[in-house]
Amino acid sequence: MPTPWTNRFAQRTKVIKSSVIRELLKLTQRPEVISFAGGLPAPELFPIERFKEACQRVLVEKAACALQYGTTEGYAPLREMIARNIARYGIVASADNVLITSGSQQALDLIGKLLINPGDRVLVEAPTYLGALQAFDVYGAEYVSVPIDDDGLQTELLEEALRSGPKFMYILPNFQNPGGVTLAEGRRHQLVLLAETYGIPIIEDDPYGQLRYEGEHLPPLIVVDRENLRRDDGYRLGNVIYLSTFSKTLAPGLRLGWIVAPSEVIAKLVQLKQGADLHTSTFTQVVAYEVARDGFLDEHVRKIRQVYRERRDAMLAALQEFFPPEVTWAHPAGGLFLWVTLPKDIECKALFADALRQNVAFVPGDSFYATGDAGGRHMRLNFSNAPPEQIREGIRRLSIAVQCRMKRPEMIAL
Ligand SMILES: Cc1ncc(COP(=O)(O)O)c(C=O)c1O
Repeated sequence: MPTPWTNRFAQRTKVIKSSVIRELLKLTQRPEVISFAGGLPAPELFPIERFKEACQRVLVEKAACALQYGTTEGYAPLREMIARNIARYGIVASADNVLITSGSQQALDLIGKLLINPGDRVLVEAPTYLGALQAFDVYGAEYVSVPIDDDGLQTELLEEALRSGPKFMYILPNFQNPGGVTLAEGRRHQLVLLAETYGIPIIEDDPYGQLRYEGEHLPPLIVVDRENLRRDDGYRLGNVIYLSTFSKTLAPGLRLGWIVAPSEVIAKLVQLKQGADLHTSTFTQVVAYEVARDGFLDEHVRKIRQVYRERRDAMLAALQEFFPPEVTWAHPAGGLFLWVTLPKDIECKALFADALRQNVAFVPGDSFYATGDAGGRHMRLNFSNAPPEQIREGIRRLSIAVQCRMKRPEMIAL
């Protein structure tokens, strides 16, 4: 029902659709539902005692700074700590290359503000992170999609897509959300070379890189870019902007993420961030620094990895035990998600309604595609937010819904 307000909204608001995921998640709140739908970390792993001590210490020793306005770039000790931590992965950056954001989600919004003119194309993976599409849509982005397979973005299809002249590429190299896949090392090199050849920058979004449960860590694109192209000028001429977050390693409620970029890019982003929120909460930044310091974060991440590895394995085992052979899934080496592919004639939105009747929830895969027909036959399952026995029971319930629908695919239950 339009009201006088409807006509007052700016043109850019017209392209915004309400998030299908958020609407679906509302239906999964009933306590009897086992939800594999959200991307939520396990709350029982939040380091609450350490936060209590840190808050206490900050209020006693650092209140004047922590409760005051801060610089837009972020709390200097936190930026320095991030620069030190990422150096372990080969990312050579000083604190001046690091901008603290209110979650990676704000980083995506700022990137959109910085780079997208209405009608500009953004090259994304198919499927890709829905939140990035939401952030870029507002700035009038159009999309060109390149599919992923078990080794991540299919770089052999990239060149043709690059010829359509995208403004930048948005890439999730590690344990992709939603696909769970990781970009193979050879493809990282191809991607970076093509980015250089076509002069098209890469936004590397890496919230899950530290949550690896098997295999060797692969070099981030920002490192491949620097090393392959022998950049001896630091990141000044680099093609990659790198994003990460404390959401999956400490707590998403902190709303703390960061951008690593050439100083010229950071300076422009700082201006844009000033208009948005002046700076990310000083109190939160100081507390997060006090929590993470002295090796605590590393120790904590080791614990998270162990718990999530068990949960991933529980989900893989349950899928093997209960699902019919026509259903396939990717094997994620890390992260929070498992991507399941159903036979062609199964429509996941209809399956979602069936699953809810069995008191289990997932996210239908079609929400994660920027362009084209995804075929509607994928499900994203999250494994971090439920203990192994609940995961097994949830997959058992889901398998009932899947098997019923495989027998009667034509029945639309929505
Ligand atoms: C790929 C990706 N990028 C960014 C985000 C946003 O994270 P944050 O909580 O830091 O805003 C998420 C959250 O799930 C994500 O999966």
